Amino acid sequence: MTTPQHVAIIMDGNGRWAKARGLPRVAGHRAGVEALRKTVRAASDLGVGWLTVYAFSSENWSRPKSEVSDLMGLLRLFIRRDLAELHRSGVKVSVIGEREGLSPDIASLLDEAETLTAGNSALNLIIAFNYGGRDEIVRAAGRIAEAAVRGEIVPAALTPEIFAGYLDTAGIPDPDLVIRTSGEQRMSNFLPWQSAYSELVFLPCYWPEFTGEHFADALAQYAARERRFGGIVPQGVAQGVAS
Ligand code: IPE
Ligand code: IPE
Ligand code: MG
Repeated sequence: MTTPQHVAIIMDGNGRWAKARGLPRVAGHRAGVEALRKTVRAASDLGVGWLTVYAFSSENWSRPKSEVSDLMGLLRLFIRRDLAELHRSGVKVSVIGEREGLSPDIASLLDEAETLTAGNSALNLIIAFNYGGRDEIVRAAGRIAEAAVRGEIVPAALTPEIFAGYLDTAGIPDPDLVIRTSGEQRMSNFLPWQSAYSELVFLPCYWPEFTGEHFADALAQYAARERRFGGIVPQGVAQGVAS
């Protein structure tokens, strides 16, 4: 079976999970953190080397203040509680998204997570926090423009590869598979550049319900896909036939 090197997950449906149980939305977010813990362990077991999770989007600031503050609180808790364990398991944590504008204690926790785990290599966990794909692309374009002004870049020589090196995901392989839970079938500004050729799997379960079995099911769907990248697959060597 072809296992994707990099899986990216839109962890959606915490609020609806809570609502269906008569609970406040924050209870859904708490249950979502639990699902994230299990998913990180499952990724290693399933042989996935890179896992990106969408934890807070640049558009999520538009939620009620109390919910934003609950989400910030849960990130703090997750890093404080889980960082040591992630480090022990050899997980390398990276964070993508806009760091500026975050409260200083959150920004320093994110820095701490990255610094502590920088030398690990068992699993790459990328947390998309205060992340928006359009924001990321615009920030990259700004940095490229500044480099051009300094004379370090010739605009005519710009390539997609050079451009990608200015994104938050520089050095990270593109996701092979993007999973979204909760039944919504949209990307919500998640990795628009990087997912240009990703396979997409939409699952009906809410994020707090997501288990290793759902993960394995998504990987099986991925393995049955034929990726062509705009080319053609010669007869007889199509994925699943040759492998
Ligand atoms: C995903 O769950 C978590 C975040 C966006 C932070 P939601 O909070 O979007 O849950 P629903 O979509 O309202 O059910
Ligand atoms: C995407 O989910 C963001 C995260 C999972 C962090 P949303 O719930 O914010 O997306 P929309 O609003 O349904 O598109
Ligand atoms: Mg949602």
